[in-house]
Amino acid sequence: MRIERNLGMDLVRATEAAALRSGRWMGRGDKNRADQAAVDAMRYALDSVPMNGIVVIGEGEKDEAPMLYIGERLGSGEGPEMDVAVDPVEGTTLLAEGMPGAIAIVAIAERGSFYNWQGIAYMDKLAVGERARGVIDINAPVAYNVRAVARTLGKQLEDVTVVVLDRPRHKELIKEIRETGARIKLILHGDVSAGIMTAIENPPADILMGIGGAPEAVITAAALKCMGGEIQCKIWPRNDEERARVAELGIDVNKVYTTSDLVKGENVYVAATGITPGEFLRGTEYFGGGARTHSVVMRSRSGTVRYIDATHRWDKLMRISNMPYG
Ligand code: FBP
Repeated sequence: MRIERNLGMDLVRATEAAALRSGRWMGRGDKNRADQAAVDAMRYALDSVPMNGIVVIGEGEKDEAPMLYIGERLGSGEGPEMDVAVDPVEGTTLLAEGMPGAIAIVAIAERGSFYNWQGIAYMDKLAVGERARGVIDINAPVAYNVRAVARTLGKQLEDVTVVVLDRPRHKELIKEIRETGARIKLILHGDVSAGIMTAIENPPADILMGIGGAPEAVITAAALKCMGGEIQCKIWPRNDEERARVAELGIDVNKVYTTSDLVKGENVYVAATGITPGEFLRGTEYFGGGARTHSVVMRSRSGTVRYIDATHRWDKLMRISNMPYG
């Protein structure tokens, strides 16, 4: 079915709701309740989106996740058949500890679009924005990629910024990046935001490198597909159990997954809202009687990227919604 409606405009109401509800948990040290608040709000709002959605990337299997579990049906049930990928709080620790960079994000695309990682937790990732698309190669040495990006952006090596999750597993990677002379931006959490960051205007980083969550790789790919960027990934089994599982499933650990392998469809929509203040989205700000949110909505077919500043008033919202905002 040809999808005419920009469903992203409906999705953003769900990420706003997740940010509004979970933002209240900022810095309160309770990851689970912060996540639960976002899950409840996002689920409620996604059910009114005019689609026939199935969660492909969600909070986990049904038994461990009562809502937004993999296989759960979402949407009004009328409209196109869509895959849904949700991360109600990307950066739960950031939110619980009151640190910058937590966002609520959801991506949808026509049914069968999203790569299903079959229980593998991590992927090795290399991502860039549109201006460096086509010059990277995850199988090449770090120096090759940094040089290629510097060349295509017309930058000196010393002016290229690589964003990397601060993890012991990245010790060697960080050493290799430092040897090229490039700048490094270490982040505590949130490699979806980091990947998207490479594709925004005046990007705070030019390249994302390193190992992070597999579900996050698919969501990043959805956003980069809308923004014209590129991601390449390889499965990274973290222990013998996962290595055995990979072998059993016949997955080739050397296979490079491109943006289009992770997100096959051409009708991709992504919406995200800042929860805590970040580099590409401001955080949710509360005032007496309401709050302000900052969101982005993207659509792959048109390539339109919209930033949305919204003001929400509890008294009015609670007259038309069952969500306990105020
Ligand atoms: P959560 O929001 O689920 O906590 O994920 C945060 C995150 O930093 C992701 O952005 C990243 O892909 C993944 O965790 C990295 O995993 P780990 O913290 O195990 O290295």
